[in-house]
Amino acid sequence: MKNSLVVLQVLLLLANLSQAFTRYDSLQSNYAPSYVSCPSDKDDYTRKASNLSDSEQSWLEKRTAKSQPALYEFLKYKTNLSESEYKDLIPLNSTNTNESIKVALSFSGGGSRAMLCGAGQIAALDNRVTNATEHGLGGLLQASTYLAGLSGGNWMVGTMVFNQFQSIQDILNGGKIWDLEVPFYESGTIAHHLRASYYAWKDWIYQVGTKQESGFSVSMVDIWARALSTRFFDNDDAANNSTFSSLRDMDTFANAEMPFPISVSQIKYDSNELTIANSTIVESNPFEFGSWDADANTFVDMKYVGTSLVDGKPVDSTQCVEKFDNGGFLMAVSSNIWSMGLSSVKEDIEKIGILYDMFKRAFTSIEENMLDAGILQPNPFFLTTWASNFAFKNRQTLGLVDGGQDLQNLPMEPLLVEQRGVDVILAYDNSGDTDDNWPNATALTATYHRQFYANGANAPMPPLPSESEMVSQGYNKKPVFLGCDSSKLTNLSSVPPLIVYNPNRAYSLNSNYTTMKMAYNETLKRQMVQNGFEVASMRNLTEDTEFSTCIGCAIIRRKQERLGIEQSEQCQKCFSRYCWEQS
Ligand SMILES: *[C@@H]1O[C@H](CO)[C@@H](O)[C@H](O)[C@H]1NC(C)=O
Ligand SMILES: *[C@@H]1O[C@H](CO)[C@@H](O)[C@H](O)[C@H]1NC(C)=O
Ligand SMILES: *[C@@H]1O[C@H](CO)[C@@H](O)[C@H](O)[C@H]1NC(C)=O
Ligand SMILES: *[C@@H]1O[C@H](CO)[C@@H](O)[C@H](O)[C@H]1NC(C)=O
Ligand SMILES: *[C@@H]1O[C@H](CO)[C@@H](O)[C@H](O)[C@H]1NC(C)=O
Ligand SMILES: *[C@@H]1O[C@H](CO)[C@@H](O)[C@H](O)[C@H]1NC(C)=O
Ligand SMILES: *[C@@H]1O[C@H](CO)[C@@H](O)[C@H](O)[C@H]1NC(C)=O
Ligand SMILES: *[C@@H]1O[C@H](CO)[C@@H](O)[C@H](O)[C@H]1NC(C)=O
Ligand SMILES: *[C@@H]1O[C@H](CO)[C@@H](O)[C@H](O)[C@H]1NC(C)=O
Ligand SMILES: *[C@@H]1O[C@H](CO)[C@@H](O)[C@H](O)[C@H]1NC(C)=O
Ligand SMILES: *[C@@H]1O[C@H](CO)[C@@H](O)[C@H](O)[C@H]1NC(C)=O
Ligand SMILES: *[C@@H]1O[C@H](CO)[C@@H](O)[C@H](O)[C@H]1NC(C)=O
Repeated sequence: MKNSLVVLQVLLLLANLSQAFTRYDSLQSNYAPSYVSCPSDKDDYTRKASNLSDSEQSWLEKRTAKSQPALYEFLKYKTNLSESEYKDLIPLNSTNTNESIKVALSFSGGGSRAMLCGAGQIAALDNRVTNATEHGLGGLLQASTYLAGLSGGNWMVGTMVFNQFQSIQDILNGGKIWDLEVPFYESGTIAHHLRASYYAWKDWIYQVGTKQESGFSVSMVDIWARALSTRFFDNDDAANNSTFSSLRDMDTFANAEMPFPISVSQIKYDSNELTIANSTIVESNPFEFGSWDADANTFVDMKYVGTSLVDGKPVDSTQCVEKFDNGGFLMAVSSNIWSMGLSSVKEDIEKIGILYDMFKRAFTSIEENMLDAGILQPNPFFLTTWASNFAFKNRQTLGLVDGGQDLQNLPMEPLLVEQRGVDVILAYDNSGDTDDNWPNATALTATYHRQFYANGANAPMPPLPSESEMVSQGYNKKPVFLGCDSSKLTNLSSVPPLIVYNPNRAYSLNSNYTTMKMAYNETLKRQMVQNGFEVASMRNLTEDTEFSTCIGCAIIRRKQERLGIEQSEQCQKCFSRYCWEQS
């Protein structure tokens, strides 16, 4: 009896869906990309990934004028470094980005756990958050240049950035954003699910239908994107209009009041799994979409991703595409939907063969192995001059998948490339590597090894303890500094940034919920964030009262090395406490 009821309900749902696909025409502001005339003064939509874009370069000049004074303040008020130690290192009244000290922040994947832990960690760096200055590293966010997210880390970064760079405190107190009480879907109970959120799913699938009717291939990721967007935006209009390229017009970004946001994902084009030997990493930022990897070696103007291009030239100058770069869509591809709760939807639907066929037909022209990827059609890298991988540039369609597919669950590569000249990366690892869901630096280990393959060749990464040493020596229970002495890294392609690895661990809460857990009640949500704050601040700066001083030492180290300046005794002590050196 129960089964037939389920079948009936699913049939009703799908019947409604197929109707939904035909009712798109009256929409104005919607999720679907739109066709516009191509700008007449624009020749190239792509460029070789050899240097920073001119747009990023001029944005950096604005950021330098903000980040460097903020860094000066941080060092002055939050550390014991003497002013004479850093005053000649930080260009205060200059926009020369070559001379600035560049701090980058990296937030790992790991579903809602990573989003909430990351939220607490970034809150501890944000001088707008109550107590962050007193009991944390408040001001460091204001002093940083790059901010990268991947998967769940990207949900956190994206939510801040797309909502005018709101502080975590404001997001938590604001009400609608990050209401995680209700799951999208209860595993294995489709009947329950249909009762609980039937209407929302119908709407989401209908909205995706508008994209499909506009001529774009869609997949489960689009539906997932609509679902996730209800958590990241406080209204539908914002969810529809927030594209990566629209950030160029958002005051907080345009005035460089936030670090440069980068979202990391990977490309797939068949059903083969990805490893560090053959993965291709792509980044999304407000100006560009593309990859530093030899396979692709190309960046595309973010505003026109979705346009049919042949080697960077539009196929039809009356048919440029905008709004393909929907924020929710790109945030959703940076997560593995099947492991995030939709797998049970898929299984339930698969069990009922005829429905699965209907379901698949709804996603016309999508190969089954692409159903869980964000569909990148047309391929923006189509026949690009600079790509070395033919599979990559000869395909009409590429799939965008979770940035952690090759185990690199921390978004590092865009921060490691020499062109960006990053001095220090604060890497917050909220992965669930071990059996009980704590990180063991699997992500950084993968990044370390990947530099010896062609695609990783320009992303140098310092060595680190093995995964088992991480656990047995307790390196996953405290922050560890990697690559402290650049004179020992001369065998790498260039001098990598110094890395401050900071793993998720328990202070006031066991914050190791599974990646699959999508629902958190209000109390637990705040406890997760609080614990994240404690992770970034070493228990409100009580575990090591000199922690912020030691962070200061790490931040200035590369610049000191470039200028041949000795470390102070105080900083040497910090380094002997936190640095790991290969024995
Ligand atoms: C969203 O886009 C639509 C259509 O372009 C426009 O009418 C609307 O004002 C936009 N909303 C926001 C918040 O920008
Ligand atoms: C957002 O777009 C979807 C379809 O793409 C549409 O159904 C919805 O009405 C739009 N919301 C707003 C506020 O425009
Ligand atoms: C990057 O290289 C291109 C081509 O050589 C050049 O036109 C552009 O100005 C360079 N951009 C920056 C920011 O150096
Ligand atoms: C930088 O400019 C500010 C005012 O804009 C001035 O007070 C300060 O003395 C200048 N600092 C340096 C090092 O020139
Ligand atoms: C910055 O460094 C690059 C590469 O070394 C150089 O070409 C450029 O002229 C420098 N810019 C300034 C303003 O010093
Ligand atoms: C800030 O810290 C004080 C102790 O110094 C504490 O009493 C207060 O609850 C904290 N406020 C918040 C919002 O965490
Ligand atoms: C990547 O390498 C792995 C291991 O050799 C292999 O199983 C997989 O098929 C490869 N993937 C692609 C996309 O070539
Ligand atoms: C969280 O960590 C604790 C201590 O390591 C462990 O006992 C517990 O099983 C873990 N919880 C989950 C959900 O993995
Ligand atoms: C580290 O995590 C990986 C999974 O990401 C696991 O295979 C490995 O056994 C773990 N090692 C230790 C020592 O926990
Ligand atoms: C919130 O969730 C936690 C963990 O599942 C549970 O222990 C706690 O009782 C819940 N609190 C409320 C108020 O529901
Ligand atoms: C850190 O400070 C907060 C108040 O800001 C407090 O609620 C929390 O218990 C403190 N954590 C620890 C581990 O002492
Ligand atoms: C500064 O040094 C004093 C004395 O060594 C120490 O008590 C204090 O905790 C230090 N503060 C910081 C921010 O490192």
